[in-house]
Amino acid sequence: MVNLEINPVTPLIGAEIKNIDLRNTLHKEEIAKIRGAFLKHSVLFFRDQDLNIDQQKAFGKYFGDLHIHPARDRNGIDGHPEILYINAGPDTSRVNGDDWHSDVSCDEKPPMGSILRIFEVPSSGGDTLFASMYAAYDALSSSMKKFLEPLTAIHDGGPNYIDRAKRAGIYKPEKVFPSNSHPVIRTHPETNKKSIYVNKIFTQSINGIPKDESKAILEFLFQHIAKPTFQCRFKWEKDSIAFWDNRCALHHAMWDYYPEVRRGYRVTIAGDKPL
Ligand SMILES: [Fe+2]
Repeated sequence: MVNLEINPVTPLIGAEIKNIDLRNTLHKEEIAKIRGAFLKHSVLFFRDQDLNIDQQKAFGKYFGDLHIHPARDRNGIDGHPEILYINAGPDTSRVNGDDWHSDVSCDEKPPMGSILRIFEVPSSGGDTLFASMYAAYDALSSSMKKFLEPLTAIHDGGPNYIDRAKRAGIYKPEKVFPSNSHPVIRTHPETNKKSIYVNKIFTQSINGIPKDESKAILEFLFQHIAKPTFQCRFKWEKDSIAFWDNRCALHHAMWDYYPEVRRGYRVTIAGDKPL
């Protein structure tokens, strides 16, 4: 008997899932319901999920193969290459992901989803904002949609990851980070819906148009995608989990709790080449 409760956070993005213990082996029907809610709401939230690393990896594997992060030498943990350690505190100058982005969009096949469990929260702050790129696409004029449709853009991991490696004192000049072109408007491989696929952390320029036009269009898109109407905001508690769809949602981790600590583990699910 599957008793999942699915409570939307806003009509456009986010839903809280209740009546499930993710430490358990899930029934096929439960997995299908979670997948359906994930595709409908783009990000799912769970509370009070005291998962160990193996249970978190097992939950991720219900939805696909696990992705190995290109910057895992900075944020990995021994024996678990699929785990990304999220750790911000008095010794960190910035938190990972403190601007709008889709995880590792610089990869040729960027991850389809990310599952973050936070096990240490600051006394206040440290929320994550999520934004629906379906809603952002839908809100564009038809002439702007037409203009953007054939364009591709460069997503380069170098500037972000090199900056962070330098700050962490582990910069290796020989290390090369992924850089790939992706469509500015992508079609979700499962819902077939269109969304805007550029983000502030990785997208550097639009291909095939003059530099100043590329800069102006990206500036417009970065402002457009950050409109509050497209967003929901998640307040973490100890053992909360968020599971987001990187193909149609952006997220932004707030860095407003220095010098307090926020720590967690993320597993990331492999994805397809954006089309
Ligand atoms: Fe992220």
